Amino acid sequence: MKTKAANKKAPAEYGIEESKLMKLFEDELKDIYWAEKALTKALPKMVKNATNEELIAALENHLEETEAQVEKLEQVFESIGKKAQAKKCEAMAGLVKEAEEIMKDTDKGAMRDAGIISAGQKVEHYEIATYGTLRQFAKTLGLEDAAGLLEEILNEEKAADEKLTEVAEATINMQAAEEQEGEDEEEAPKAKKAAKKK
Ligand SMILES: [Fe+2]
Ligand SMILES: [Fe+2]
Repeated sequence: MKTKAANKKAPAEYGIEESKLMKLFEDELKDIYWAEKALTKALPKMVKNATNEELIAALENHLEETEAQVEKLEQVFESIGKKAQAKKCEAMAGLVKEAEEIMKDTDKGAMRDAGIISAGQKVEHYEIATYGTLRQFAKTLGLEDAAGLLEEILNEEKAADEKLTEVAEATINMQAAEEQEGEDEEEAPKAKKAAKKK
């Protein structure tokens, strides 16, 4: 097998031209710029709908970060000599819509909080995937400033995701489950202790 050696050499006939990668980078940048702006409007609605204080604090904190991320993205555009431009991100539009539906369909309290966390984590995972890719593109293109800014944002998204997991584990999932008790008799035969994998 010569795949390893071949990969290392990156044969000239297989690869993306720099100009095409740059175009892809810019397109995805416009996409996430739209997404972050949309989130600066969606997050306050989630804050309003949340009950758990820790969750509210986490959302408010991430709203501030998100507003700063919009500015960081503007700096990324500037660093490549482009004007900041937003292009509708259908994926984020869908995730925001889903969050709104969850909030509409649940009673305020633990259930809605659990739904908000679930929707919020889907958003964070989308962002983590996007910024991971964008940072890699920037590195490949030799755009050091852009790569640095994108990595900063990436780390904030990861931290936001972890914070939501913490909040969920600490309180909300338990409360939501308790609220539902009796309604739902089915006790799924949970895999003994296999789930706890050190
Ligand atoms: Fe963000
Ligand atoms: Fe985020």
